[in-house]
Amino acid sequence: MFDEVAPRYDVMNDLLSLGQTRRWRKIVLDAVDASPGQRVLDLAAGTGTSSEPYADAGIDVVACDFSLGMLRVGKRRRPDIDFIAGDATNLPFADGSFDAVTISFGLRNVSDPRKALAEMLRVTKPGGRLVIAEFSSPVNPLWRTMYVEYLMRALPEIARRASSNPDAYVYLAESIRAWPDQDNLAAWLSAAGWTDVTYRNLSGGIVAVHRAYKPEAATGSPAAPPAQVRRARRSASR
Ligand SMILES: C[S@@+](CC[C@H](N)C(=O)[O-])C[C@H]1O[C@@H](n2cnc3c(N)ncnc32)[C@H](O)[C@@H]1O
Repeated sequence: MFDEVAPRYDVMNDLLSLGQTRRWRKIVLDAVDASPGQRVLDLAAGTGTSSEPYADAGIDVVACDFSLGMLRVGKRRRPDIDFIAGDATNLPFADGSFDAVTISFGLRNVSDPRKALAEMLRVTKPGGRLVIAEFSSPVNPLWRTMYVEYLMRALPEIARRASSNPDAYVYLAESIRAWPDQDNLAAWLSAAGWTDVTYRNLSGGIVAVHRAYKPEAATGSPAAPPAQVRRARRSASR
């Protein structure tokens, strides 16, 4: 499916999010908080649009995805970025290879997201961080109702007119609705062995950015009791 939507993927993103993806990506970059000299894995990187801000900031970023169609579009556009084919549930990297791992709008698409969270933990250095940007649940009930209407009615209609593969966008709407909300995703992170899990809502909770750390002494296997989840005090909503 991603191979098919690859050529128009970025145009459709801007259109369907009404330009919001650019703002969301800047917030993710700040949350990853990487500096030159650090190595960052951008997982499910697709065409590399989520990897570009790191490369532009002089950070050593690896863009990994399992869709060769997406990777090809990315490599053509940004030959300077290191694109690597790999499956999020069986990553082609050694233990502790990265200072930070990030995944934007990709975890929901992975067939076994909990296995991917464990793999991300394995390839992160002890004390390293994880930042996930993913569609989530709007907090305000009225905003949630309007958003679900947009997802289920307007979005497939726009996609029908603008995309070569409208079914992919029906899948997008359905997968967003089936995805765990902010607290449940945070609980998945804790269960996978990540600690100090926090999140902040963007655009009223349409998107949530989760941040967590690999324990200094972690072995790569899931920790026993889930750590307590804290909600980030500052919300980027609205
Ligand atoms: C919606 S795109 C996100 C791309 C990019 N991160 C962005 O923000 O624009 C989701 C990506 O997840 C990738 N994906 C899904 N399952 C995957 C897996 N198991 N391993 C690696 N990539 C996967 C797809 O190929 C697709 O490129």
